[in-house]
Amino acid sequence: MSRVIVYFAHPGQRHSRANSAMGKAAKTVESITFVDLYAEYPRHDIDVEREQRRLLDHDVIVFQFPLYWYSTPSLLKEWQDLVLQHGFAYGHGGDKLTGKSMVLAITTGGSDEAYTATGYQNFPLRSFLYPLEQTARLCGMTFAPPYVLYSALQADEEGAIVNHTNGYTKLLNAFQDEIFDFAKAEQQATMTFSDLPIREKA
Ligand SMILES: Cc1cc2nc3c(=O)[nH]c(=O)nc-3n(C[C@H](O)[C@H](O)[C@H](O)COP(=O)(O)O)c2cc1C
Repeated sequence: MSRVIVYFAHPGQRHSRANSAMGKAAKTVESITFVDLYAEYPRHDIDVEREQRRLLDHDVIVFQFPLYWYSTPSLLKEWQDLVLQHGFAYGHGGDKLTGKSMVLAITTGGSDEAYTATGYQNFPLRSFLYPLEQTARLCGMTFAPPYVLYSALQADEEGAIVNHTNGYTKLLNAFQDEIFDFAKAEQQATMTFSDLPIREKA
């Protein structure tokens, strides 16, 4: 069984529909470690040693966040800057994350059509995430395709959000049960609830 940690980063949870539903569901997945970054570090005073210990204790690192200005909310960027230290995550002796996996669970305001060469966002979503993808690679980690809910502000709470949330818990369980198909996933740019590369449980 793989050990999974979810880092949840949303600075405005009172107004969140999609991420709050996903976060609530993720917390109920047995054996998962769930970290609400904005709740734990309201003053952004990240405890680097504690976070590094958390990373050492897990195999699959999930970052869950709403896309803010084509990137992560700022506290998650601060977390990366401080926690992924030279000699720990990369560089000489920095092999502590080698062999682990990084997964992004993202919601966007823009639609899937918007994130195309002819759409108003001009580029595919995945291209905005290259910094995180390359961070994973530099640290020797596998990067799974992001699990995405597009048009999150229009998503129906009884329909799209429920489907996405159910897919999310299925995904987290699949990582734990080691039935997520990383090889198949490599062929996908992103994942949605209806195209999860998961094998049957033996
Ligand atoms: C400060 C800010 C920046 C945002 N930047 C983007 C963006 O770059 N691209 C995008 O598609 N949506 C953007 N959005 C929309 C959010 O991604 C959207 O509100 C969120 O995914 C909805 O999820 P929630 O219901 O959990 O809050 C932005 C929203 C805010 C408040």
